[in-house]
Amino acid sequence: MRAYHTPLDLVRSSELEVPAICTRPDLLARASQWFQDRFPGEILYAVKANPSPWVIDGLYASGLRWFDVASMAEIEMVASRCPQAKLAFLHPIKSRAAIRRAYHDYGVRVFAIDCAEELQKIIEETGGARDLTLIVRLAVSNDHSVLPLTGKFGVSAHEAPALIHQARAVADQLGVCFHVGSQCMQPDAFRQAMDLSSRLIAQAGVTIDIIDVGGGFPSLYPGLTPPPLQAYLDTITQAFENMLVLENATLWCEPGRALVADAESVLVRIDLRKEDALYLNDGAFGTLFDASHSDWPFPMRAVHADGRLATGRTVPFRLYGPTCDSEDVLAGRFDLPATLKTGDYIEIGLIGAYGTALTTRFNGCGQYDYVCVSDTPFASAFDLEQRPATITPMHANGPGPSGAR
Ligand SMILES: Cc1ncc(COP(=O)(O)O)c(C=O)c1O
Repeated sequence: MRAYHTPLDLVRSSELEVPAICTRPDLLARASQWFQDRFPGEILYAVKANPSPWVIDGLYASGLRWFDVASMAEIEMVASRCPQAKLAFLHPIKSRAAIRRAYHDYGVRVFAIDCAEELQKIIEETGGARDLTLIVRLAVSNDHSVLPLTGKFGVSAHEAPALIHQARAVADQLGVCFHVGSQCMQPDAFRQAMDLSSRLIAQAGVTIDIIDVGGGFPSLYPGLTPPPLQAYLDTITQAFENMLVLENATLWCEPGRALVADAESVLVRIDLRKEDALYLNDGAFGTLFDASHSDWPFPMRAVHADGRLATGRTVPFRLYGPTCDSEDVLAGRFDLPATLKTGDYIEIGLIGAYGTALTTRFNGCGQYDYVCVSDTPFASAFDLEQRPATITPMHANGPGPSGAR
């Protein structure tokens, strides 16, 4: 990967034909270290948030050993890059072949379930294995998350005690997990989910080895300022102490967004300015899926074609992506410098989570140039103070995010 101090140097140095993913390994390592220093348990990276090889390698190099994988493709990819990595197959619904191959070919022992039929599939495909770690996924409230994940997975409170009981009979290690929804804005959401878990475990009348609080840890997007991340860990630690579990029960978490959001930005070119419309070379079918489909507010800074930061009076712009689909437009209006013109660039920050992971090849797009940079232009949940005072990230002035992915 080519290295530059900032994306501005990249603009100065060469002709950029495709959008550039500006990777920031230092910020990835900082996020990983932060969790490793403070989370009182095991951290499993949710690979789906960003499966890029440089992210997997970077997290492993930073000391993270557990990966939450959702498919055979993720298992194969992580295992091929980091053979010593420990894998947990935490998608509650898996094909029989995936269960078989994960267990027999890749040594996966940790599987999530949210119904008796999935439990039965695991028993059958592993040949009645006695060394399984089964994690029962509970349905919990997602009321405090910006991107709720409810309705699809998770056993109801009504059915959970029976499933926990059933799983205990075959599991070597037994856990419960949940997901409070992505970009959770209230630490108390974790406490509520843990209190519910505790009640359901008591009703099941069995011992539990693992409490997995899932993902949902927030990043710092414009207009979406969560409480400090430490407050989430304090709440979880306190709630864990109050849970009806054994002394030696362990705590797990599965962060995706919080670990990787800061670690990538995308540098897009303005292929045409038509009055207040900017036509970009990336959009809804590329790294900006969430900016268009969920109305997600990303920080931005504008860069002139000669590599100078664009500043001065701002006016509202519409931002269109490169494909012919009329839905390839970012939600809202964006206050950007009035001087912007065809051939200039916009750097859009915090696309490390669910950005590159969601790109498609629609219209022949979806090709990116990966470079490495070391500046820190956008505010981060990990260290607000590091943000240089000279740069004011701009963002949409439309409505805030809404709805599930
Ligand atoms: C099972 C599971 N764990 C963890 C995550 C990561 O969530 P987040 O990126 O909100 O931390 C997800 C996201 O969908 C998930 O489905």
